[in-house]
Amino acid sequence: MEKITIREAGSADVNQIMLIEDESFHENIRESKAAFLERIAHFPEGFLLLEINSKVCGYISSEIWDHPENITEDSFALSHRISEVHTTAGKELYVSSVGILKKHRGKGYGDLLFTELSGRVSKRYPISSIILLVSESWPAARKIYERNGFVELRRIPGFFSEEKRYNGIVMRKRL
Ligand SMILES: CC(C)(COP(=O)(O)OP(=O)(O)OC[C@H]1O[C@@H](n2cnc3c(N)ncnc32)[C@H](O)[C@@H]1OP(=O)(O)O)[C@@H](O)C(=O)NCCC(=O)NCCS
Repeated sequence: MEKITIREAGSADVNQIMLIEDESFHENIRESKAAFLERIAHFPEGFLLLEINSKVCGYISSEIWDHPENITEDSFALSHRISEVHTTAGKELYVSSVGILKKHRGKGYGDLLFTELSGRVSKRYPISSIILLVSESWPAARKIYERNGFVELRRIPGFFSEEKRYNGIVMRKRL
């Protein structure tokens, strides 16, 4: 039987996180190792790992924003610096990324990471909403978010540059 553990990431996990990133996203839209290391150092409670039999197979990363009514396209820029936007006094949790190794997808682990992150962060910080940006070409992620009560806020035309360009969908859930 698979033994599942969810724990905070540490800097020593970054190479395994990069492997998951490589499997999960087109090369044009991957985050940098430096961005992940900064996220882990700055807000470890917001960066969770899913371990299956002690091997890291999934991650979810996040930051807390204080400007929920002033969301611009720049807010979602790839590999932006968490240190410039994150504040634990903020009211909105931004889920910046989530990925699961391919061979472990479709078993509910993405949903589990998501639920665990929002539960842990909302217990500790005064957030009143969660926001994220999803590509219209990622049906599994969209299904998780819709099932968890996220609603579409706006679209950002052509935000995701994969083999072709796809619109980004900004989604928000009020807690
Ligand atoms: C998104 C991701 C983390 C989800 O992880 P997961 O463990 O496979 O997700 P879950 O098993 O919890 O749920 C996925 C749901 O999407 C569904 N799904 C999977 N592929 C799908 C597809 N092509 N079309 C429609 N639904 C799909 C699954 O059936 C499941 O729904 P169900 O529980 O009702 O059957 C994973 O697919 C992944 O790493 N994708 C690549 C990176 C990515 O897109 N990240 C999202 C960034 S916003």
